[in-house]
Amino acid sequence: MCGILGYVGLKQAASVLVKSLKNMEYRGYDSCGITVVSNKELRTEKSIGKINNLQKKTDINGLVGKVGIGHTRWATHGTVTEENAHPHMSNNNMISVVHNGIIENFLELRNFLKDNGFLFYSETDSEIIPNMIEYYMQFGNDFVESIKLAVKRMEGQYAIIAVNDNGEFVAVRKETPLVVGLGKTKGEFFVSSDVTGFLEYSKAAVFLEEGDMVIIDNGNSIDAGADTDYKMKLFNINTDCVVKRPVTKLDWDAQQAQKGKFDHFYLKEVMEQAEAMEKLTKMDTCLIEEMACEIKNAREVYMVACGTASYTCMHALYIFSKICNVHLNFCAASEFYHFKNFVSEKSVVFAVSQSGETADTLSAIRIAKEKGAKVLSITNVMGSSLMRESDKCILQNVGPEIAVNSTKAYTSQLAILTLLAYAVDGRINEGIEEMKELPRHIYYLTSENARKSTLKLAEKLMDNEHLFVIGRGLQYPTALEAAHKIKEVSYIHTEAFAGGELKHGANALITKGTPYIVFSSDETEKEIISNAMEVKSRGAFVIGVGPKRNDVFDVFVKVPETRVFNPIVQIIPLQIVAYQLAVLRGCDPDFPRNLAKSVTVK
Ligand code: M6R
Repeated sequence: MCGILGYVGLKQAASVLVKSLKNMEYRGYDSCGITVVSNKELRTEKSIGKINNLQKKTDINGLVGKVGIGHTRWATHGTVTEENAHPHMSNNNMISVVHNGIIENFLELRNFLKDNGFLFYSETDSEIIPNMIEYYMQFGNDFVESIKLAVKRMEGQYAIIAVNDNGEFVAVRKETPLVVGLGKTKGEFFVSSDVTGFLEYSKAAVFLEEGDMVIIDNGNSIDAGADTDYKMKLFNINTDCVVKRPVTKLDWDAQQAQKGKFDHFYLKEVMEQAEAMEKLTKMDTCLIEEMACEIKNAREVYMVACGTASYTCMHALYIFSKICNVHLNFCAASEFYHFKNFVSEKSVVFAVSQSGETADTLSAIRIAKEKGAKVLSITNVMGSSLMRESDKCILQNVGPEIAVNSTKAYTSQLAILTLLAYAVDGRINEGIEEMKELPRHIYYLTSENARKSTLKLAEKLMDNEHLFVIGRGLQYPTALEAAHKIKEVSYIHTEAFAGGELKHGANALITKGTPYIVFSSDETEKEIISNAMEVKSRGAFVIGVGPKRNDVFDVFVKVPETRVFNPIVQIIPLQIVAYQLAVLRGCDPDFPRNLAKSVTVK
């Protein structure tokens, strides 16, 4: 859940690390730090908060050295303090480590180290790592061997980068992503949790597999600062063998990961949706057709995902039922384990994940694989674990999504799943033709005029403590996603219900003026309007979102009727309202408190 980064090359490591860590802040941003190998000495600087804070309190240019590691943290073990921030040092100050993941047996290892005279200065699980390495070095093992011995004793998940005062640089992974970026300049390497850490400097990457260890050196030990050609060696600690991994060309560019003229990534990504949809109408449909065959041949299909991606999956249930009359099952990925007995080699498990690294989603597909099921998936991130571990995977191709809140990834997942349903029914071209209408609608819904009118709505809603959203049919998962978006970005307590469920409990929550957002469509109009009337008669303030105005609405947001594509167009005004609420309430729309983009721990 954190971002880790290592650099070996000819540039000054500190400034590369600072710049690159900023691009990874969406992985965690409560504290940060860097270590630079400087004249046979490890110099470490840390700070609470974002990288800007580190820059303010540190003379970055004064940290001279061409090998370094950095970390941007999302706290799991230990509160947000400088002591708990990474990198963590060994007791002898000769080893520095950044870590993403959780060392489950850290208490046992900590006690073991304490019994051997080691002292601890943080509350983290990570601090045991440099000290375990130091412990093994005391017996004459070299740096690499000591890391191998140390990680063999660690249970849990980790991506680790370690450097020592001699400039030796080693990284290793278990159940946590790690990727090597090959610098545009020869002999320059990056190791990072994901490619956004080095997009500016690299056009090609090597995605590490389970148990892979990368050692970067210049043949001897690295003399930090020497202008030598570094080389990368790959080794797998599980098989004890040297391994080769393919080099992947990176399609994303650094520009796509910048805010450009926008104040926030969130808004930029909302605005990119029309273009993303245009691109999807031109996508190669072969893979979709192949997946459609797998679905037709399966005894049953389970959709698994977390958070926003889970609402995409819920949508798929309705969409498949409508378009191709196929029943899908849905399970929150974190709950999938409890249903594993129903999964067999005749099942398809279909995972959806923007990052392709969500631990719960990966754990669900690993269960599926153990049971012999086919794993299909959709992800936005090339080379992600989900992509590599699936039998077939569709890449969303919408460019990096940086804001913690998913917007363009969500709508593109919906579009792909809708096309998949058409493909299952043998009508993919029909689906693509219908989809061609979407970019025009999305341009209108994200236009300045549209944003001005949602701003008036956001101003009306901004002081509310509670907000409710309702929908029926396809609009029910849309209501869930709208509530999710509003709560995570503006911190207003927002809950969604299927319209018909209100009278079974939630009506008790209505007080005078409580805002209710009501999603309607041609298909559900009659029933949802009657739900709107129910809440209105009890004093609610009703906001209608849909194709037709109705007298029951106190405020109306007009959205075109696009049948099975309604979920895509209807969420857009709400993504914008959520953003505007965040800005009006002084919240950071890109980095909501307590949340991180890539949740790589269970
Ligand atoms: O990368 P994933 O799509 O697997 O992420 C799943 C959720 O963590 C994610 O959708 C989360 O709910 C976001 N904060 C949504 O805006």
